[in-house]
Amino acid sequence: MSSLMQIFGLLLICFYSHVSAVTFQEFPPQIVKESSEVQIQCSHDDSTKTQMLWFQQKKDSLVLTLIGFVYVQGSPTYEGEMEKQFKLTKEGTTKGTLIIRRAKLSDSAVYFCAAKNTVNQANPAYFGQGTKLTVLGKDDKITPPTVKVLEPSEKECRNKVEKEKRKKTLLCVISRFYPDHVNVTWKINNEEMSKGVATDNMPAQPNDGEFYKITSRLKVDANKWFDPENEFKCIASFFNGTGTTYHENGTRGIEAPKTGQNITTEAYLKRSQTAKLSYGVLIIKGCVYGAFVMFLVWKLPGSSGKRNN
Ligand SMILES: *[C@@H]1O[C@H](CO)[C@@H](O)[C@H](O)[C@H]1NC(C)=O
Ligand SMILES: *[C@@H]1O[C@H](CO)[C@@H](O)[C@H](O)[C@H]1NC(C)=O
Ligand SMILES: *[C@@H]1O[C@H](CO)[C@@H](O)[C@H](O)[C@H]1NC(C)=O
Ligand SMILES: *[C@@H]1O[C@H](CO)[C@@H](O)[C@H](O)[C@H]1NC(C)=O
Repeated sequence: MSSLMQIFGLLLICFYSHVSAVTFQEFPPQIVKESSEVQIQCSHDDSTKTQMLWFQQKKDSLVLTLIGFVYVQGSPTYEGEMEKQFKLTKEGTTKGTLIIRRAKLSDSAVYFCAAKNTVNQANPAYFGQGTKLTVLGKDDKITPPTVKVLEPSEKECRNKVEKEKRKKTLLCVISRFYPDHVNVTWKINNEEMSKGVATDNMPAQPNDGEFYKITSRLKVDANKWFDPENEFKCIASFFNGTGTTYHENGTRGIEAPKTGQNITTEAYLKRSQTAKLSYGVLIIKGCVYGAFVMFLVWKLPGSSGKRNN
């Protein structure tokens, strides 16, 4: 049931954002302290759409919850208990404000306003881009991210099908930031990449910690990676409540291995000394550890004895 509603909510957003003939003004996200009053604005360019509706989409949810609506003239109509927390005002035909009286942590959400022509009730509502609101608790500190680029795994070539062999993947880990207002971009030699970039849909809070983390991958042709002239950069832009700050890390390509497609153990070890945290090392370590555990299980008299019983 709830997943059905979620899908419906998603379709609603997708559908209306594509057919939208109404242009909404975009407002920056807001980061506010608990208990403060918040004003979220809405403004569009279609004076025939006199009804303004407000929706709330909570974090990690695709459901849009109606808060209420207001016409040019007349008082607002609220859904259920919404009036306790929210107040809707309208300034003229195409401008309105959603007021949160005393922001609670649970009010952190994206707020959408929508505009509708009510001459015919079957007319669709047109949605704005939404304004993201983060309510900070007493102990929440705005913390910009730490960015770290991990070089391609040396093993990457071997497990993939032939066609994928000529690709290399760089990993960017953006971590220890709060709240979750970040965008990630990749640059090669200061030119922004759009192809080959895959970023997590949403920042996660690992171990229910206070900080967020997000990862992004850049897939490039191996010959791009095997060129020390090339500089690969991952840039996180972070909204800190008043402005955007930029945080980057990067790495240079490496010499192509002399043995052609293969990377010798010697070359691999040499490289791993300079990049101890490299993704590849972690994978190898995992494999070695796995092999060691398997060896123990196989070798220990206790375990084989059990099996015999
Ligand atoms: C992230 O990208 C969106 C869409 O382009 C933009 O509106 C927003 O300001 C960006 N946020 C940051 C922190 O760069
Ligand atoms: C937020 O970012 C702006 C730059 O966009 C900077 O001037 C300001 O000092 C930053 N605020 C904090 C609290 O880091
Ligand atoms: C990336 O970060 C590492 C350490 O985290 C640092 O040694 C390296 O110089 C950084 N590289 C760039 C290009 O910022
Ligand atoms: C690459 O490795 C394969 C097996 O892993 C080996 O048969 C082949 O000879 C190697 N080629 C070179 C150029 O080292």
